[in-house]
Amino acid sequence: MSGKSDGTSTKSKTGHGGACAVQNRIDSLVALLSEHSYRYYVLSQPTISDAEYDELFRELQGLEREYPDFVREDSPTKRVGGEPLVGFRSITHEMPMLSLDNAMNEDEIVEFDAQIARLLNRGGMGQDDINYTVEYKFDGVAVSLLYRDGVLERAATRGDGTTGEDVTENVRTIKAVPLQLRGEVVPRGLFEVRGEVLFRKREFEALNAERLKRGEESFANPRNAASGSLRQLDPKETAKRPLWFFAYGLGVVESDEQSILVEVRETLCRSMKFLERLGFSISPHYQAVKGATGLVEQYRRGEADRDALPFEVDGLVIKLDDVKLHKVLGFRQRSPRWAIAAKFKPVEATTILEDVFIQVGRTGALTPVAKLKPVKVGGVVVSRATLHNQDEIDRKDLRIGDTVVIRRQGDVIPAVVAPVTSARTGSEEKFVFPKVCPECGHSVERQEGGAVTRCVNDLCPAKVQNRICHFASRDAMDIEGLGDKVVRLLVENSVISDITSLYRLSVEDVEKLPRMGALSSANLINAIERSKQQDLNRLIFALGIRHVGTKTARLLAHCSKTLDGFLNLSFENLLAIDEIGPETARAVSDFLNNEQEVQMVRRLIDFGVAPKPVVTGAVDTKGTLSGTTFVLTGTYEGMTRKDAETEILKRGGAVASAVSKKTSFVVAGEAPGSKLLKAQALGIPVIGEDELRKMLE
Ligand code: IVH
Repeated sequence: MSGKSDGTSTKSKTGHGGACAVQNRIDSLVALLSEHSYRYYVLSQPTISDAEYDELFRELQGLEREYPDFVREDSPTKRVGGEPLVGFRSITHEMPMLSLDNAMNEDEIVEFDAQIARLLNRGGMGQDDINYTVEYKFDGVAVSLLYRDGVLERAATRGDGTTGEDVTENVRTIKAVPLQLRGEVVPRGLFEVRGEVLFRKREFEALNAERLKRGEESFANPRNAASGSLRQLDPKETAKRPLWFFAYGLGVVESDEQSILVEVRETLCRSMKFLERLGFSISPHYQAVKGATGLVEQYRRGEADRDALPFEVDGLVIKLDDVKLHKVLGFRQRSPRWAIAAKFKPVEATTILEDVFIQVGRTGALTPVAKLKPVKVGGVVVSRATLHNQDEIDRKDLRIGDTVVIRRQGDVIPAVVAPVTSARTGSEEKFVFPKVCPECGHSVERQEGGAVTRCVNDLCPAKVQNRICHFASRDAMDIEGLGDKVVRLLVENSVISDITSLYRLSVEDVEKLPRMGALSSANLINAIERSKQQDLNRLIFALGIRHVGTKTARLLAHCSKTLDGFLNLSFENLLAIDEIGPETARAVSDFLNNEQEVQMVRRLIDFGVAPKPVVTGAVDTKGTLSGTTFVLTGTYEGMTRKDAETEILKRGGAVASAVSKKTSFVVAGEAPGSKLLKAQALGIPVIGEDELRKMLE
């Protein structure tokens, strides 16, 4: 045999040798492209750029066009989708595709384990000696993939479990579905892989935005989007949708090769590892666990990690690991006794978008807020959700009166995911963004390229009120008794008009106001007086400069040492500070160059505001806790969370509000919240108050 087979391109077209070279090149291109596709879609570790991939792909397309006889069944060019179909053929599954019973909480999971123990005569509960596998329950569409001698031959939807639809041409377009099985041991004969086709959250949002822009109907959730995409009669349409595939089990296995049988007939764990070697993605955090204890632990972890996944899941699937015992346990009507779906608390619900109103923040930003017909999601009644800005409303094409899908994510404010456009009656109304500030009637402005519309009036009462509230808040000047309601009372009665006027207030001024007694008035004035000596970093944060949060404020205080030092910082000084980017430097410098703002700070000084200069070591990058990030949760016995934070910061440590991979320790007090679960899920060390104290010694 002549011709090149070394993976480089061949242009020779003549003679037997040429044909052979072409075939070799086609073979090696198919192998190369499959390998890169696998690295990208299954391993998430691409080793070539998209452009390089496209170049190889086009070369293969070119050769196949010229030599149609050499086109291979498993060629990646088949993924672009063949001719449109007139309908889907129905297919009878050789082995029915079953459904699962549900466990709705931890007790029901424990009961499932106990039942298995009873059925297997494993003497009673609490022994934790049964092996299970735990994986996510994907929220997509179930499909069966039939391979013959390692090549994808047919794909079918689950349908009613007995009969499904032939969606082979569409499934071929899904990059995470191997057209040819990989690995050293490829099963001969029929080999059926079952799993779920799904949409990832980000790509789902993009798809919906695009559809709405074209005036098409939105999908209510990623599952519907996956199902709709898989049931396109034109496979080229499916090819345009970024669908993914995860394998979760096996169906028919015809092969009688001993090496295959040991892979698939022993334990599920082993068969899933085998599927991975054949080129399939399986559930992230696929795990073998023991007994009810392991199951419950994994259930908590799974739920805590759920939001971080790129796709939707609605629970876990728990399966008995020992395949031989599956037969012993058998089935109950349509579901096996050896598996169960452990559902998570629902986080989505549909409700009515009753109205949209505008909130004006301290920077004057106009934020649209959804007023929703109250609905329970994940155990909490939700009646509002932020809509962020006009673009967001446009992108999602939300209309007043729409039925909408809302979603709660961890402790975050609920979000409106999408309208259910199929539920529209025609009476829904578009929301018209106001041309003037709804609080003061002044004009509003939207910076070019920016998403935020702002009220330009510095005296806008909403802005003034929110600025004062921010100034007095816990992380800022921490003025006790000066919450939202009192600030509103003071502003509405024209007792104060900006933050400086706080320091001119007398007990008599406050006492005159409705619902303010002598004692609370005196307390308030005392609290305001005390705030004059707050720490410099708190004052800097309290000023409400854009992009300056508590952490940046601390950096600024540390670098400038005194209030005067802060007022004298130049743009260059700011840029020179590590961890301060150009955007923040610009915002601070704008503030310091704004005559009105500086005058306001000077007036504060005149009224006796004299923040404590930063004691050396307040942000001590060489401190004992330098490089250590803590997350505080629950209540502590001997100190407040605020005290704990201050002490950690003094030693150069950092305190974050959410648990992430970067967290070093979670300090859990009494009644810790979801942060503890998250920490356990991510394997972050959890310590108690006593251990924290030792670190602070
Ligand atoms: S195993 C006999 N594993 O859930 C076992 N199913 O109610 C049957 N599903 O239609 C399925 N993720 O589409 C299994 N990791 C997973 C799954 C999963 C999602 C779906 C599947 C099926 C339904 C069963």
